[in-house]
Amino acid sequence: MNTTNITNTSQLIEPESIANNVFLNISQVDMVFPTPTGGFTALKEVDLQIDKGEFISLIGHSGCGKSTVLNIVAGLYQASKGGILLNNKEVNEPGPERAVVFQNHSLLPWLTCYQNVELAVKQVFNKTMSKGEMKEWIEYNLKLVHMDHAMFKRPDEISGGMKQRIGIARALAMQPEVLLMDEPFGALDALTRAHMQDSLMEIQSELNNTVIMITHDVDEAVLLSDRIVMMTNGPEATIGEILDVKLERPRSRLSLAKDPEYNRLRSEVLTFLYEKQRKVENISSKTAAPQTALKKRVNEK
Ligand SMILES: Nc1ncnc2c1ncn2[C@@H]1O[C@H](COP(=O)(O)OP(=O)(O)O)[C@@H](O)[C@H]1O
Ligand SMILES: [Mg+2]
Repeated sequence: MNTTNITNTSQLIEPESIANNVFLNISQVDMVFPTPTGGFTALKEVDLQIDKGEFISLIGHSGCGKSTVLNIVAGLYQASKGGILLNNKEVNEPGPERAVVFQNHSLLPWLTCYQNVELAVKQVFNKTMSKGEMKEWIEYNLKLVHMDHAMFKRPDEISGGMKQRIGIARALAMQPEVLLMDEPFGALDALTRAHMQDSLMEIQSELNNTVIMITHDVDEAVLLSDRIVMMTNGPEATIGEILDVKLERPRSRLSLAKDPEYNRLRSEVLTFLYEKQRKVENISSKTAAPQTALKKRVNEK
């Protein structure tokens, strides 16, 4: 009898069951989009295991499949093969434990900043928080992104950077286990972007959220991440390389600028993007003005 038990136990400790213990498991994901000319394989065997509290950046050339990966983790797309496990549960649809911040901040324009956050808070905490507690919680999250001064303004009364901060407050207020961000600071000017990166680092160290952030910005990836996941060009895009970022936290952009390890990591990402996965595009033919238009302007002079 004992022998049987021992055999059974040892059978359980297979690599598969070890993989099942990871917090967020992106397991062997393929994504095939139907197109008029047949299936287009955007992703092939994307496989990544993420720990709780980890900050992951997803970097790769435009069109390689970053947003597709994020949308599958968000439950907005269903993988064609493989899948997502969060806390050992399969992800098949969107859920409040996975909040998404899109680049275009998607606030409801007829609601104030406060009401935009309130909508999300009510969705998650209606049964567990009193009205007073909800109010406190909404205000706390607006303070976290330094937007408490503009709570009662509507989205068209604040700047793009401020709207993005409200989008982040709304996502954080849902207390998501996983925060998914698709180029969240892409449309911001450099100063606002730096400020948002600093707030995000502060918030994440306080709340220990697990974050997957898509970015085009190499400095942003190195500054914020625990690991940088670099994707190959599509079709059949997959993970090319993963870079561990072991820089001490809290991180300061100023002191890192002179840090040799920071610069090594930075150049590793640049080498991956611009040597190993160089995208050959004929820029001159794409951006050339139509000859007829040029001729017309010359004639007008
Ligand atoms: N719904 C869709 N139908 C067909 N093709 C799609 C769809 N969504 C994305 N794709 C294609 O999949 C590839 C990856 O897209 P995407 O994930 O948006 O890339 P990225 O976010 O890295 O720029 C691209 O070639 C894109 O054209
Ligand atoms: Mg994208």
